[in-house]
Amino acid sequence: MPSSHDAIVLGAGAAGLMCAGVAGQRGRRVLVLDHAERPGNKILISGGGRCNFTNIATAPDRFLSANPHFARSALARYTAADFVALVDRHGITWHEKTLGQLFCDGSARQIVDLLLDECAAAGAHGGQVDVQCGQAITDVIHADGMFRVTAGGQHWQAPALVVATGGPSIPKLGATGFAYDLARRFGLKVVEPRPALVPLTLPGEELMFRQLSGIAAPVAATAGKASFREAALFTHRGLSGPAILQVSSYWRRGQPVVIDFLPEAGTGWLRQAKRDMPRQTLPRLLARHLPERLAEALAERLGLGGELVGMADAKLAAAEDRLAGWRFTPNGSEGYAKAEVTAGGVATTGLSGQTMAARHLPGLHFIGEAVDVTGWLGGYNFQWAWASGWAAAQAL
Ligand code: FDA
Repeated sequence: MPSSHDAIVLGAGAAGLMCAGVAGQRGRRVLVLDHAERPGNKILISGGGRCNFTNIATAPDRFLSANPHFARSALARYTAADFVALVDRHGITWHEKTLGQLFCDGSARQIVDLLLDECAAAGAHGGQVDVQCGQAITDVIHADGMFRVTAGGQHWQAPALVVATGGPSIPKLGATGFAYDLARRFGLKVVEPRPALVPLTLPGEELMFRQLSGIAAPVAATAGKASFREAALFTHRGLSGPAILQVSSYWRRGQPVVIDFLPEAGTGWLRQAKRDMPRQTLPRLLARHLPERLAEALAERLGLGGELVGMADAKLAAAEDRLAGWRFTPNGSEGYAKAEVTAGGVATTGLSGQTMAARHLPGLHFIGEAVDVTGWLGGYNFQWAWASGWAAAQAL
């Protein structure tokens, strides 16, 4: 006889634990199953070990989705301030690093402990949360109004099933496309998943920048209609750094990534410099804003190594344009092995933005990264995990 719960949550990551804790404190008996040996693996390595747990600038326009409106309701009902209040209640100290990104002063382990403590607190509210790791799920069926889950020869059942198994980014941490398979099996569509927040690779001929591997510079990077002013990093295989990770979510194969190396410079800056400082050279001028080796490499590429006084204005104008719009054509990305998240996922067309439940099967919920909602770099993805987990929990 399968043992019964009010809800079964698949995945003990950010969204699943949040959902279980909130539902448990609403008096529900919740079972959480995960195939990994411990809960919250991605949380533990997030934010360089300090977990960038939210972003105070959270707004729907910082998320990608085939339906940009879908995330609105959940993000409005459970905000960054709500999660910060929870962090404060647990006595976890934090700091804003940059651009509204909040990190633990201590370690990401504090956020996993917070979530597990919230699950344990269910008992005081008449609920119960049982988190079971090391459970490889072998079967999920729906019959007679019940979801029946089998793992390790054991059977459980509940009228509600919450799928919080994330996306396939970083498979070595136990990430899978399980949610997509399950969604398809229950008649939901899946928006083609792709690696996002991921370093981009460059073909051989563009790898003159390989000599610059390890050098970072503040730039404005653009792919399609999306632009980000942050640091770009040259790697031995291509481009990385926050500006590149951000545009990678918008980049499509065949498109260029355009880099403005001097986003602060106005039109005509180089021609003006020739008049003000005729004996100056381009490498020295660029090195005022960029790392020296990068300045030299760019000037060399432009064929402008000598003093400005000897250069025609037309040549300098062309150099200004090139430096403001240097085109790289990536031949791919580092893929799921290095992608911080997966864009695409369970199509929002079949889900309720209020409850995250399938419209045709209201007991079946999808939350977190499994859903076709992907945040920018900077704490947005965790905020989506908290908000979507909280929203589903209200319906359990
Ligand atoms: P999550 O991946 O957290 O959890 C899914 C769970 O399901 C896992 O425990 C997994 O083991 C389990 N599972 C998967 N398949 C299963 C199966 N078949 N059966 C049973 N269980 C299964 N975001 C952010 O906002 N700030 C940050 O600082 C970072 N930093 C960061 C660093 C790195 C290196 C990575 C890879 C990612 C980040 N992220 C991030 C992204 C963030 O980690 C991610 O968006 C959330 O963890 C998504 O939460 P979910 O709960 O949806 O999935």
